[in-house]
Amino acid sequence: MPDVSITRTTTLTALTALASAAALFLSALSPASAQNVAPAAALLPAGAASAPLVPTFAPDPELLSAFGGKDGLFKLAGVLVDKMRADARIGHYFEKTKLPRLKTQLGEQLCQLLAGPCIYDGDTMKASHADLNITKADSFRLVELLQASMDELAIPFAVQNKLLARLAPMYRDIITR
Ligand code: HEM
Repeated sequence: MPDVSITRTTTLTALTALASAAALFLSALSPASAQNVAPAAALLPAGAASAPLVPTFAPDPELLSAFGGKDGLFKLAGVLVDKMRADARIGHYFEKTKLPRLKTQLGEQLCQLLAGPCIYDGDTMKASHADLNITKADSFRLVELLQASMDELAIPFAVQNKLLARLAPMYRDIITR
């Protein structure tokens, strides 16, 4: 599993301070729950210059259909982006963002993450978030909003956690302070 720069101590502190959504996110960061994450190095030919844009997983048609397939994941991306933009805590990050484009990029990314028929061709997570100064608390908020979006779309809790676990390793490139 890729290295995640959040220590166990910080994890425990955060767990006491944050709501269940944050706890769930943090538990998804633990190696045990990320056991399906294919090590990036194993997916690359020897000597390849960069990691894949989106972590790769074996196809799981049941999981994909629990999210409503590609259309369902694009819908989820749309609901989430609207919630993030409207949010008192993290909405300001999206002031200058072209929301339709972000919805499409996020939809493609979520769809590829669940091995759906999509190719994410946007920027790397590092490049697209580099100048934003995103904190751990901001990312907890995103997880809460993602959970609220999935609840709204009646996505079962167990599969919600699978998506959160697949997203968790990506935070190391997103949280910069
Ligand atoms: C695992 C978590 C996250 C994922 C998968 C994700 C994914 C993405 C994607 C796919 C893009 C579009 C990249 C492109 O345009 O090529 C993007 C952009 C962006 N993300 Fe995230 N993101 C995550 C976490 C966050 C968090 C926690 C925040 C802030 C609280 C955030 C704020 C933004 C903003 C503001 C942009 C748009 C930047 C611009 O206007 O160009 N993201 N993100």
